[in-house]
Amino acid sequence: MKTTNQKTATDWNDYSRSFLSVMPSQMLALNREVASHLTGHVADLGCGSGKIIPFVLDNPLVTGYTGVDSALEMVTKARWMADQFPQKPAQIIHARIEDVEIPKADSALSINSYYNWPDTRRVLTKIADILSPGATFILATINTRLDMQALLNSAEKECIAHPHWSEFRDHNLRICESSSIKLLELDELIRETQLAGFAVEQAHQHLYEGGLSLLVLRKDFSES
Ligand SMILES: C[S@@+](CC[C@H](N)C(=O)[O-])C[C@H]1O[C@@H](n2cnc3c(N)ncnc32)[C@H](O)[C@@H]1O
Repeated sequence: MKTTNQKTATDWNDYSRSFLSVMPSQMLALNREVASHLTGHVADLGCGSGKIIPFVLDNPLVTGYTGVDSALEMVTKARWMADQFPQKPAQIIHARIEDVEIPKADSALSINSYYNWPDTRRVLTKIADILSPGATFILATINTRLDMQALLNSAEKECIAHPHWSEFRDHNLRICESSSIKLLELDELIRETQLAGFAVEQAHQHLYEGGLSLLVLRKDFSES
């Protein structure tokens, strides 16, 4: 396991412009896969710029969306994104997940936010609290096998002409090199989610060339 201090909301604000607009195919595949598991009103914890909103709201089983993020620039962009898809209700809350009352949800997701949480167990427990027993929670986060340089080399072939590509690439390299991230082996991540009250239905590392762990979790019935 590797951990240091966390990135601040200001760091994330700087990343928001390129993060909203650049979507390499590995990220697209991730967003599509995660959105396909969701139902009812969805909570997105650490929603960033809301890149997944079009995919979530397009799922016929989804009725609405609540995103939560602590970086104001990310929130502003996520609100813009939600406004582009007015067919279902969507709201974005500007707050740290651990500090705010989050409305109950029928299913939840969190993509690449976990590694920045100061107290991951506390946040996972908070997510379990907003879900009913049996509800789905999809947790995706980069892991110890991630080779960010290799992943970016691959993405560059698709995105090099994008006006924000170099900004996106440099931010991603900074996230992995100098900052402040909690990267776990898959079995460590699984153990932590179980301790927070989830059962693991599926777990894989097919995306990001092995560098991303994706868990399909169910809120335990025993916790009710
Ligand atoms: C790499 S971005 C991922 C955004 C989005 N989930 C996606 O995949 O498109 C990580 C986001 O997590 C947010 N974040 C990190 N820790 C947080 C916390 N404790 N509470 C709320 N948001 C948090 C950051 O502000 C940032 O926008």
